[in-house]
Order: sequence, then structure tokens, then C-alpha cells
Amino acid sequence: MVSKSPEEHAENLNLRHEDFNDQEFLYEVYAVMRESKPFSHQDCPFVGPTPGGAWVATRYDDCYEIARNWRSFSSRPLTMDGSLMWFGDIVITIDPPRQQQLRKVLNPYFSPGRMKQLEPQVRAVTDGLIDNFIESGRGDLADVAWQQPGIVFFRYLLGMPVQDVPFYLETTDVAVNGESEEVRNAAMTNLYLRVREEIDRRRGEPPRDDLIDALLDAEIEGEKLRFDDVVANVMLLVQAGLETTSSAMSFAFFYLGSHASERDRLVRDAELMPTAIEEFIRFAGSIHGLNRSVTDETELSGHKFSPGQTVVVNYAAANRDPREFDQPDKCILDREANRHLGFGAGVHRCLGSNLARLEFRVGVEQVLARMPDYAIPAGVTAEFHGNSVTRGYRTLPVVFTPGVRVSQ
Ligand code: HEM
Repeated sequence: MVSKSPEEHAENLNLRHEDFNDQEFLYEVYAVMRESKPFSHQDCPFVGPTPGGAWVATRYDDCYEIARNWRSFSSRPLTMDGSLMWFGDIVITIDPPRQQQLRKVLNPYFSPGRMKQLEPQVRAVTDGLIDNFIESGRGDLADVAWQQPGIVFFRYLLGMPVQDVPFYLETTDVAVNGESEEVRNAAMTNLYLRVREEIDRRRGEPPRDDLIDALLDAEIEGEKLRFDDVVANVMLLVQAGLETTSSAMSFAFFYLGSHASERDRLVRDAELMPTAIEEFIRFAGSIHGLNRSVTDETELSGHKFSPGQTVVVNYAAANRDPREFDQPDKCILDREANRHLGFGAGVHRCLGSNLARLEFRVGVEQVLARMPDYAIPAGVTAEFHGNSVTRGYRTLPVVFTPGVRVSQ
């Protein structure tokens, strides 16, 4: 039961409202926002604080244009007096040309070639997690969705201890979703100190050719990155790389576990998998709002923006825009035209999209290969967490015909 109508929510979107723990209700609110006017005002954007609240973009073309036009819509946050803030070289909170120089340092670690080489390891990690319950005929697929991306990323790209993944998952979750600003800030500080300690320990060690080494060695315009910026970028990578992919994968597991014919279709037609993964990301796996700061007088879809204002680009709402997608509220696994904005657009387009796609595809492939008849049993509730910039299932109890372990 929701406590307010879509129209009431649309007047002043508050993504932290518990009504949004209903999977589809949020999209009803987006539909009202999108159809009533191009930009709706909200007092408290999810990521803040922002002086004067923010304007939320929910239409596909507007979101695309804002993401593309970084000169008028900067990724640097605003100070409370409305000027642009600079608190370091963190790739997601700076603009070109500096942002592009930093991307050049990070991009090679996510190249299609590297991802191809990584595929057997991703499969082995996924199999190891499925082995934990395959013999019993029942298990929780949230364990696969929530652990696989963290293990892969920490072990093979970041070079951080895998046993720390649960700590980082828990702390980033509190830093994003904690019940008050105070609790969230405390978790963020905790995260910062732990990452700093971890990288500090690495400084005297032999090189390992991972992302932490790349950041420690990086030189931009002949100068090394500040140590604080190395820490901040690693924090960003941990925050951007785990919960996003886990949430998206958890939705796919839920959908296939509650739509047996769609599950069977993917089991029969493995070639459909990459198309289906894109559709899962469009339909339910994208980000529900990231801020841009207006830098000049600019007009979009008849709305005049002024410097010092914040715009929230709501990629998830854009991904349900009927102006761009046929039957946007249907999850169509063989959807042909799918230029979704799940990974954003423009200069800040997701750094980790190749990794996310690999983890996601292999996760679903292994689950379907080893437990092709899995289902969420009637009467069992899968716990959904939905009042956040990323939304996903925290528990997914399933039953299936027992199988055999594959790892030693
Ligand atoms: C399904 C999973 C994922 C989704 C839906 C997603 C979505 C996004 C989106 C929408 C952006 C654009 C941000 C903006 O416009 O300001 C972004 C940027 C970014 N993503 Fe992802 N992401 C995912 C997985 C990952 C992974 C696995 C990593 C790394 C391990 C990652 C790292 C980043 C980074 C570092 C940025 C900032 C890039 C920049 O500012 O230049 N993401 N992501």
C-alpha cells in the first residue's frame, strides 16, 4: 500500500520515500512527471545538499542532451552559494579536459580485450557461489547477485582483499541509503579511512598492474595525482562498481524466477542473452538520478536554466519514455531498438559498462545453465529495496532441481 498518489509524489519527488519500495509505483510517478512538464522541481534531490533544490529531467531527449552538453551542465557540484566546487580530481565530479585525462588512465582496465580475458574467471567465481547451495535444491540468488561483482572487481581489477567485500558493500550501502545525513556522512568517512589505509599499505609493495597501481603511478600534465585523489577515485570505483551491477542482476534473477516462460525461452535461446541483458538494464537496472550544475543561461525544451541551479538527470525515467521506446513499461527480452541510457551518455558515460555487462551476462548464464528450472516459490517474498538511486532485491529465495558442485 502506498501512502500518496503518483500526482502527489510528482509534485516534489523524494526518492527516499518508502512508497518507492514498490517496484513499479516509482515508474507511475515518473510517467506523471514526464507527461506533465519537461522538468519537475524537487526540494531534496537524493544526492545533495543542493542550494534551492533541483530540476529533474525525466524525458529521454532532455536527459541525453544534458549528459552530452557538459559545458552548460557541469558535473562539478555546487557550493551552498551557487558557485562550482572543486574538491579534487575525482573523475565523476570534474569536467573535461581534466576528466578525459583521468579517464585515459582508467579506461584500459575496462577495455573489451581485458574483459574477454576475464570471462573464465568471472564464470569460475559465479560457479563457486552457486556451489554453496546447488546440492540442496534451494538457495538465495541475492547471494550470487551481491557477491559476484564485488569478488571479481576486488580480485581481478582493483587488487583489494576479497574478504573485505562484505565490509565495503555494507558501508557503501549505509553511505548512500542510511537514514540520516549524519549516518551517511559517518559511513562515508569510515569508507574513506579504510580505503586510505588499504592504499597506504600498498605504496611500498611491488607493482601488480591493477587499478590502484594505475592511479598511484598516473601522471597528468607531468604531475602525479594527489594521494587524496587516488583514495577518492578508488572510493568512487567501489561505490559505482558494486551495488549498480548487483541491483541490476538481482532484478534479472527475480524476473526470470517469476516468469517461467521467459526463463525457459532464455534457456533455449542462449543467443538472446546479450539483448536480454540490455533490456534488463533499460527496464530496471539503471540509475535514478545524478546531478549536474548549470553554468550559463541556457534553454532546454522551453525551460530557462540559470547558473547556480542543479538538474538531476534521471536515466531510469528516460529509459521508460514512450517517445523513445515502444511499450516502455514492458520488459521485452528481444527488444530490437534499445538505445537505453542505463549507462548514461556523453563524456561521463559509464567507465565500467563492459565489466558490468560481462558480470551480468555470465551471472545469468551460469544460473540458467545449472538451475534451469529455478523459481521463486509461491508465498515466498523476495525483499525489494527501492527508495534509492539504485534499486534491487536484497533476498531472492529460490527452489530448483538439485545439481552437483563443479569447483573443488
Ligand atoms: C549495471 C551496472 C552499472 C550501471 C547501471 C552504471 C551506470 C552508470 C551511469 C549512468 C554513469 C554516468 C554517470 C553520470 O552521468 O554522471 C556511470 C558512470 C560511472 N560508472 Fe557505472 N554503472 C554500472 C556499473 C559500473 C561498474 C561495474 C563500474 C566499475 C567497476 C562503474 C564505474 C563507473 C564510473 C567510475 C563512472 C564515472 C565515469 C565518469 O565520470 O567519467 N560502473 N555509471
